[in-house]
Amino acid sequence: MKAAGKLMKVFVTRRIPQEGMKILSAAADCEVSLWDSDEPVPKAELLKGVQGAHGLLCLLSDKIDAEVLDAAGPNLKVISTLSVGFDHLAMDEIKKRGIRVGYTPDVLTDATAELTVALLLATARRLPEGVEEVKNGGWSSWKPLWLCGYGLSGSTVGVIGLGRIGMAISQRLMPFGVKRLLYSGRTAKPHAAEVKGEFVPLDTLVSESDFIVVSCSLTPETQGLCDKAFFSKMKNTAVFVNSSRGAVVNQEDLYEALSSGQIAAAGLDVTTPEPLPTNHPLLTLKNCVVLPHIGSATYSTRGVMSALSARNLLGGLQGTEMPSELTF
Ligand code: NDP
Ligand code: DGY
Repeated sequence: MKAAGKLMKVFVTRRIPQEGMKILSAAADCEVSLWDSDEPVPKAELLKGVQGAHGLLCLLSDKIDAEVLDAAGPNLKVISTLSVGFDHLAMDEIKKRGIRVGYTPDVLTDATAELTVALLLATARRLPEGVEEVKNGGWSSWKPLWLCGYGLSGSTVGVIGLGRIGMAISQRLMPFGVKRLLYSGRTAKPHAAEVKGEFVPLDTLVSESDFIVVSCSLTPETQGLCDKAFFSKMKNTAVFVNSSRGAVVNQEDLYEALSSGQIAAAGLDVTTPEPLPTNHPLLTLKNCVVLPHIGSATYSTRGVMSALSARNLLGGLQGTEMPSELTF
């Protein structure tokens, strides 16, 4: 693979599962340099690493902005992100420069939906609290009023963003005996019929749901969507779950809603910032379960994501079809 007779230079911003590295290493005439760490590449190293690169394989924690694109220079043909979310990419700047983008939809849908359901159940049925009580001696006997939570049977679930993951979450929740499934978004979805989904205005979803699951993408419209006004419309007994992006939620408002009893509990797989500082107020609350952004974290899913991101990158370098190209 050559650019005007020269090696194609690729920068990979983190150690990634071997499935992807094998594909890149086997690519003839492709010179791969890697930020050989499990921790994020510092900005200065990213700016250095992308210089003259034809391809960039990045992660959701790398902000790819005008500064990075300028540092890369005119060689850069393709950016492949090891994620389905692409809110970390400055799409306007990328488009202006005619750079192609690859991402990893579909392959992580099942894993992320499964984790979201696990988080919902753990939050609603207070599993982390229960585990803690067993360890700290708080379990004195079987008590009728102790550690009660909320069940899905007969409930109304509201899904904000019935996309690939929102739909997969809904399919998994319905067999628990959910009575009504509401969803909101920009457009009604024909596939919602499969889960008997009712397309409703956001306000209706917020006020009528017993469980609210956020699975939309982060956009200027969804940024800060779940704020004081949002939480004030929720039922006092309702459980809020977010596995999309932290910035969809105003965390100060969420803290207020949880600590005042405005809402029952929250489960978050995503926060702002990531990692959430260990002294963050949300971590002092028993009714808030926070996970370290592990929605897609199964061995097989991460392997497939890695391979797909490598194939996307090579397709972009070769100027051929990319298995999952973001069209924008
Ligand atoms: P999709 O593009 O399939 O779904 C995104 C959904 O967001 C669409 O249904 C879209 O609805 C909805 N949406 C967009 N704007 C709004 C809005 N203003 N109000 C309500 N809904 C809106 O993406 P995926 O389902 O594959 O992924 C969704 C997101 O999940 C990713 O962008 C990523 O941020 C996050 N994610 C998190 C993971 C984790 O580890 N926690 C793992 C994987 C993904 P419409 O079509 O009507 O606009
Ligand atoms: C994504 O892909 O956007 C997730 O947040 C991580 O898998």
